[in-house]
Amino acid sequence: MAEGCTEPHIGHGKIILFGEHAVVHGCPALAMALPRGASARASVATEDRLHLMPFDTHVRLSGDAQPKNAAGDGSAEQPGPSEHGAKLRAALADALAETPRDRPKLAIEAELHVPAGAGLGASAALSVAVIRAIDAALGRARSDPDMVAASLRWERAFHGNPSGVDSAMATHGGVALYRKGEPLAQVPVVTPPPLIVAYSGHAPSTKAMVDSVARQLERDPERIRGTFEGIEAIVNNGRTALELGDFRRLGQLMTLNQQLLNTLLLSTTQLEVLCRAAMDAGALGAKLTGGGGGGCMIAVCEDWDAAERVRARLSEFDPDAFVVGAGATP
Ligand code: PMV
Repeated sequence: MAEGCTEPHIGHGKIILFGEHAVVHGCPALAMALPRGASARASVATEDRLHLMPFDTHVRLSGDAQPKNAAGDGSAEQPGPSEHGAKLRAALADALAETPRDRPKLAIEAELHVPAGAGLGASAALSVAVIRAIDAALGRARSDPDMVAASLRWERAFHGNPSGVDSAMATHGGVALYRKGEPLAQVPVVTPPPLIVAYSGHAPSTKAMVDSVARQLERDPERIRGTFEGIEAIVNNGRTALELGDFRRLGQLMTLNQQLLNTLLLSTTQLEVLCRAAMDAGALGAKLTGGGGGGCMIAVCEDWDAAERVRARLSEFDPDAFVVGAGATP
């Protein structure tokens, strides 16, 4: 049994290069883990509790049923003190339910390093960091497939019907092709693409966006299935472009994928403004990433200097816009 504070454990955030939403319905998606995501450490305490920064959200499994922020006045931003806090509490309870009955109580300090609800896989990253911290504090080890399964259970508290891509990427890192129910296929990338990520503003829950696409599929199966087929072709071509280091092709495919996501009503005015600004500043292509309806966009450039110029332009809209791989923290 490890006493005191353990080292921080991390889970990766991710961006989806191609294939979001279609992946929920059985198509592949191409995803890239971010060096940043979430970190957590666990130590022996008198009760099971979790403190999540930067929201200062406190979740306790004994005593108070109502998760609170530090002030206890319900003023925390998302994940808020009520709905998000309650989901966090349920997810934590589930993660701890599979630990031995005679284990010590644990205090978990966790921190998100990517914005929540932005399409960067924050909740999956958090789940992996927290579960790794719990395992380390209890001197337990688990296989990667077991970690993905545990993360997926956590994710279900937040997303309803997640494809599993976030949990797989949060656990494994790297670049990978993901198809629901299949093991992650790592994609060798010799020359990493210069990518920029910018946040367009708060998004509705991923579940709301996934539900919206499911409703469209129910109403007009032929058209939506056709869109998914188009996205699948983009995913496969995107993989080849990535392996070849053909960033021009990668950019074209991103813009094409964005057009198809737009027909699924997943883009917003602000996402379009960001994509346009990135293109005007010299990007080769741009698209939303993740659930859409807000959240983040990504753009790809020819080289790192161009990426820096695009980042500078996008920072006029999002001061935290960043180049993937440059100056990243856990
Ligand atoms: O918004 P995020 O980071 O949870 O990404 C969601 C990706 C979707 O394909 C829209 C949903 C999923 O579960 O794969």
